[in-house]
Amino acid sequence: MSSITASLALSLAGVTVMTFLAAGIAIYWGVAYTLEQTAREEMVGKLRIVQHFVDEVVQDGNLETLRHHIDDVMTGHGELTVWLLNDRDEVVHGGLGLPVRQLREGDFEVRTVSGKKMAFARKSLENTGSLQLRTAVIALDMAPRARLLRALLYLMLTAGSLAMLLTFTLSLQATRHGLRPIGRLSRQAATIAPNSLALRLDISGIARELEELAQAFNGVLDRLESAYQQVRSFNADVAHELRTPLATLISGTQLALSANRTQVHLRATLESNLEELEGLKSLVNDMMFLAHADHGTVVQDLVDTNLRPEVQKVCEFYDALLEDSGLKAVIEGRATARCSPALMRRAISNLLSNAIKFTAPGESIKLSLTEHGRIAEIAVANPGPPIPAETQERMFSRFYQADPARVRSGDSHGLGLAIVSAIAKMHGGQAFCERADGMTRVGIRIPQ
Ligand SMILES: Nc1ncnc2c1ncn2[C@@H]1O[C@H](COP(=O)(O)OP(=O)(O)O)[C@@H](O)[C@H]1O
Ligand SMILES: [Mg+2]
Repeated sequence: MSSITASLALSLAGVTVMTFLAAGIAIYWGVAYTLEQTAREEMVGKLRIVQHFVDEVVQDGNLETLRHHIDDVMTGHGELTVWLLNDRDEVVHGGLGLPVRQLREGDFEVRTVSGKKMAFARKSLENTGSLQLRTAVIALDMAPRARLLRALLYLMLTAGSLAMLLTFTLSLQATRHGLRPIGRLSRQAATIAPNSLALRLDISGIARELEELAQAFNGVLDRLESAYQQVRSFNADVAHELRTPLATLISGTQLALSANRTQVHLRATLESNLEELEGLKSLVNDMMFLAHADHGTVVQDLVDTNLRPEVQKVCEFYDALLEDSGLKAVIEGRATARCSPALMRRAISNLLSNAIKFTAPGESIKLSLTEHGRIAEIAVANPGPPIPAETQERMFSRFYQADPARVRSGDSHGLGLAIVSAIAKMHGGQAFCERADGMTRVGIRIPQ
């Protein structure tokens, strides 16, 4: 399992190491360069002093005095070695066996001679008179400087490691402290259960970075709560819908059994029972359909369908009812869509049965088919008073009936439009309700 605390602390430690490394390299090279530069200046200065000594002793022409001077001032402290070469390039002062002859005028060169790191410089001497000297070569032992650099390196390595350790432990503490609000949120979330779905994460004073997450979580809870609420009310609605027909069935049967009934009477009871049972069957069928739709059942028999004949078939099925209600159905336009014809007929049937219920006798219902922008629209429009906004919002919900007393009948449970909406969604479309030309238009739009 990965830990944010550990990985943050580790990466901060890594950043510290990188920073120290970069700074260390820069400091190291800076110091090394400065040391070399000062060594060079020192040697050039010393060579100038050698020339000065030459100028001093040139009158006497005494090489020994010159050597003395040089030994006194320079070679005394061990770091410096001076060679003097005569006209024939022979060493007249200084040790032997050193690569001094290969140096050019003004050269500054670092070489390792018998295990010692030395810097060399050479200068032509002027006005040497009877001393017959031509060149002075000077060597500076670089070991002390190398020691200094090594010490610097060790110091930086130690400081770097310490800094890394310190950063790691401190950032462990800091991130632990910084992540404490997450723990608090987790504890809050852990207390939320189905019976306390109204609880929300407390986002007051929460860090900006966590606010979005907490809000998203609260949003999930909102949706969960409303879904849960829906399931609960769905159960209550189902129980409610079942109670009335069952009560009717029971009381009717009890009445039939209570006395010696004539066969005609018993038959009437059975007929009324059958009607109630048919209503219950249609309720169960509708609920089953919605349950399948909820489970994301996809439409199997998608075919390119000319919708007009489907609308005609539904109208023919309702012919008798239309005539009884003194209504006329008019079909307008045409449209095709890739859909399940059976489901389309079911949707159109639900829409038309509603329109028949809500239209006054003598009026006509308009069934229209249109296509626009690769969308097919099927709408059923009927004249009637405008539907209040509250009803429009809820009419596609399950078991919703604006005026149950008015529409209450065996096969009217408030599931018709919920099924229309489910069918539209199964086809990737949507159901709608709108007002146009004094008519109520309810329908679906699905992609072609
Ligand atoms: N054409 C319409 N005109 C006015 N109201 C309608 C129309 N169609 C549906 N409604 C409203 O929407 C509600 C839900 O319709 P529906 O789901 O078909 O259930 P049901 O027909 O069983 O009442 C209806 O009870 C009614 O209030
Ligand atoms: Mg209906």
